[in-house]
Amino acid sequence: MSLTIRSETPADRQQIFGLLAIAFRVPSDPSAEPVEVGLTRELLAGADYVPDLSVVATVCDVVVGYVITTRARIGAVPSLGLGPIGVLPASQGHGVGSALMVESLRRAEALGETSIALLGDPGFYHRFGFQPATGLGVAAPDPAWGDYFMVRAIGGVTIPVGEFVYADPFSRL
Ligand SMILES: CC(C)(COP(=O)(O)OP(=O)(O)OC[C@H]1O[C@@H](n2cnc3c(N)ncnc32)[C@H](O)[C@@H]1OP(=O)(O)O)[C@@H](O)C(=O)NCCC(=O)NCCS
Repeated sequence: MSLTIRSETPADRQQIFGLLAIAFRVPSDPSAEPVEVGLTRELLAGADYVPDLSVVATVCDVVVGYVITTRARIGAVPSLGLGPIGVLPASQGHGVGSALMVESLRRAEALGETSIALLGDPGFYHRFGFQPATGLGVAAPDPAWGDYFMVRAIGGVTIPVGEFVYADPFSRL
């Protein structure tokens, strides 16, 4: 069965929210809606939404993976914040997450963007060129994130020094 990577459409939204609810389910409280669902809902409705950077992975027209990247800044310089990203548990470990990452980076470069940051496990994101942000002079919104807050240049541009500021909905988490 072949994987399709394409831009999200409004018709995908219910599947996206359902997918994120499953991918981010908290085992100790399985009936609670994970924060990533509400965050994504707000990001999709917010001023920093970039349609080209809201990407689904489908198999037989079923959404099995999703990633959103929204406008952010480092100091006063425009940047991007990637996430949430999620893949249905049954589809994990088959390259879906990697395909979504590669496509997001390709699209960001095509849009002329110069940097992108995320919060996540370095064990997964190092392979896509992300490095701990503090080592590059980019301060995380929360210093406690340590090496889990990572950044990557796009298109060979030097990453500016400064504080990273996500799209507004992240500040309400
Ligand atoms: C993280 C996630 C998007 C990866 O998607 P995926 O389709 O499973 O990823 P791929 O199949 O492309 O890559 C699998 C590789 O990623 C690694 N990986 C997956 N999740 C990881 C994690 N949380 N930490 C470290 N490595 C991870 C796997 O060990 C595997 O490594 P290998 O290639 O060396 O064997 C997916 O596991 C997921 O949705 N997880 C739950 C939600 C989540 O945690 N999202 C990310 C928040 S930052």
